[in-house]
Amino acid sequence: GVAGAPQVGGSSEASSQPGSEQTISILYGSQTGNGRGIASELAEKAQAQGYAVNLVSMGEYKTRQLKQESLLLLVVSTHGEGEAPDDAIELHKFLSSKRAPKLDNLNYSVLALGDSSYEFFCQTGKDFESRLNALGATAIAPLVECDVDYEEQSLQWQADVLEAVKPLVQSSSASVVSIASTQAVTSSFSKQKPYTAELLVSQKLTGRDSDRDIRHVEIELGESGIQYQAGDALGVWFTNSQALVTELLETLALNGDAQVTIGKETLTLRDALTNNKELTQLYPGLVTGWAELSKSGELQAISADKALTREYVNNNQVADLVRRYPASVTAEQFVGLLRSITPRLYSIASSQAEVESEVHLTVALVEDERDGVTRFGGASQFLASAEEGQEVQVYVEPNHHFRLPENPDTSVIMVGPGTGVAPFRAFMQERAAQGVEGKTWLFFGNPHFEQDFLYQTEWQQYLQSGELSRIDLAFSRDQQHKIYVQHKIVEQGEALWQWLESGAHFYLCGDAERMAKDVHQALLDVVVKYGNKTEQQAAEYLEELRAAKRYQKDVY
Ligand code: 2AM
Repeated sequence: GVAGAPQVGGSSEASSQPGSEQTISILYGSQTGNGRGIASELAEKAQAQGYAVNLVSMGEYKTRQLKQESLLLLVVSTHGEGEAPDDAIELHKFLSSKRAPKLDNLNYSVLALGDSSYEFFCQTGKDFESRLNALGATAIAPLVECDVDYEEQSLQWQADVLEAVKPLVQSSSASVVSIASTQAVTSSFSKQKPYTAELLVSQKLTGRDSDRDIRHVEIELGESGIQYQAGDALGVWFTNSQALVTELLETLALNGDAQVTIGKETLTLRDALTNNKELTQLYPGLVTGWAELSKSGELQAISADKALTREYVNNNQVADLVRRYPASVTAEQFVGLLRSITPRLYSIASSQAEVESEVHLTVALVEDERDGVTRFGGASQFLASAEEGQEVQVYVEPNHHFRLPENPDTSVIMVGPGTGVAPFRAFMQERAAQGVEGKTWLFFGNPHFEQDFLYQTEWQQYLQSGELSRIDLAFSRDQQHKIYVQHKIVEQGEALWQWLESGAHFYLCGDAERMAKDVHQALLDVVVKYGNKTEQQAAEYLEELRAAKRYQKDVY
């Protein structure tokens, strides 16, 4: 939930009431929850200082309220190739449109979140900054662009804006935080304050001869009181494998018992590498730093070229880097180069209507072989090798943009190849428990029927009971040519068009890079063909579906 944030019932309406000029509006646009976390942190501090605060997701913000605002603080992230997060799309578009009003009386500041290994670093935040400026608003503190390690800069920005609002906004002892969210705050656990849960099961779903190791993981939330909804994600903290830490220490000829300091804490190098530092993901700054230390011409050439650095970072881990390009470093130096470890988000594969205090995940073990060495993903290896009864630190990351229809009579179409099927198991459990009237259609794909049909018996039971109306399967490698979910979508185009025209919601989960784009194209083709539309009209049709929350994506 909006963890830890003080909460008073009510809605954004609070700030259009008399005295609204004394309200600080804090808006966030956030895909993975970091922006939301920072915004609620700031709301809490502002409230503690006596300000009236309106904390709201950009996705739920009424643009017509803009003209009434006097102080707007924005926290917004950027994704992929400079794209706005889902909940920020609408406001982002609005501010760049002719409909955007003059905002001469508005004071504002923007905190932009991003990842500097991407070309369009913090683009969405920069856009907000320049649009607000062009509309006549006044910046009370300069735009701050944060990289993946955003903690320090975020705290500085928060302090700066709170200082800057002092002369502008009156505070009173009767402060209010109104959280304009339709979802109640569900628990006090968060990314920074996770719940220590118990791992119940980590069981292989794929067959013995499968190329993939996909796990069904069950975690017990016990007495935590944590509530989640179908569509939400679970954040999972993990520790790095001892084999990996030992390998690194040996490669670097460093002693694991050496003392290092991180912030104000002193600990052993081994503990730092195990618990505190990111080892299974690289970032450009480390490549640059290591190129200087190792004096390798090859690595310097990579680090001098953005595209090459990006490719290197995507295809290697810290251990690959230090093995291939030897350098001598001290323990302190090495730890200083590494980023802090961050939890991974997994789409939840269960509904509490069915599993109560448990939470289930569908986890693919990330595995790559390079130079004869197998490298694993940090969190997926942790979960795959975890033993029953082991502790695991978790928190719920709500996803308001991936929700079943409110009306249970509405039909749903779910497209989830591979581990993309996870939230649809949650959807199915939820709808079965509610005994909904609406029809449900699943498209699933994976390499082989025999080895990789995830949750096969469950889908078959739902089909038998009629709770699942249709299933279309795309086993890509069971025949000569590839069959993917998008081929099935095109093949079933006529029926699919009819479902859409009867009000069905369309959900897509899984690989963002190729699958989601191909499925989107297949949908366009279906709308062109069966809706008798031009490409342009079909694109508008899907855009309307998206705006009406009838086309929702959870892609990664
Ligand atoms: P493949 O590995 O045989 O190519 C889950 O990963 C399933 O998605 C696999 O069957 C995989 O097939 C398939 N897949 C790979 N690329 C895809 C794409 N562009 N669109 C849809 N499915 C794809």
